[in-house]
Amino acid sequence: MEIKNLIKLAMEAKENSYSPYSKFRVGSSVEMEDGSVYSGCNIENAAYSPTNCAERTAIFKAVSEGKRKIKKIVVISDDKDVFPCGVCRQVIREFEDDTKIIIANSVEDYKVYSFEEILPHSFSLDRR
Ligand code: THU
Repeated sequence: MEIKNLIKLAMEAKENSYSPYSKFRVGSSVEMEDGSVYSGCNIENAAYSPTNCAERTAIFKAVSEGKRKIKKIVVISDDKDVFPCGVCRQVIREFEDDTKIIIANSVEDYKVYSFEEILPHSFSLDRR
């Protein structure tokens, strides 16, 4: 799928963000090796630590449908240039496959990074 359309899906997912505590809305979308696409938002919790980031919501939706290899992942927030947190970078690593990391502000304004750029020297056992 074209990056612009993946960004649109992430923007739509952001609208479902459940973030009453931080009021920080994030949306994400992933395209998997077979071309299937999933999206997700951040989901917060009164106990704070159970909070799930948008990226992990999208990735876990894909993995729970049997998909394992992420080709593209988009992140978009209401702030500019929001990158995945450390936990999400490690989760991306688990299913990384020449993954493009797309940090978007709008359908016209985005940058594409390699996984190595955002998490060099990463840890993995690669048992997919
Ligand atoms: N958050 C994400 O969903 N993805 C990111 O890349 C950064 C942080 C969420 C977690 C929490 O709900 C809120 O943003 C504030 O940290």
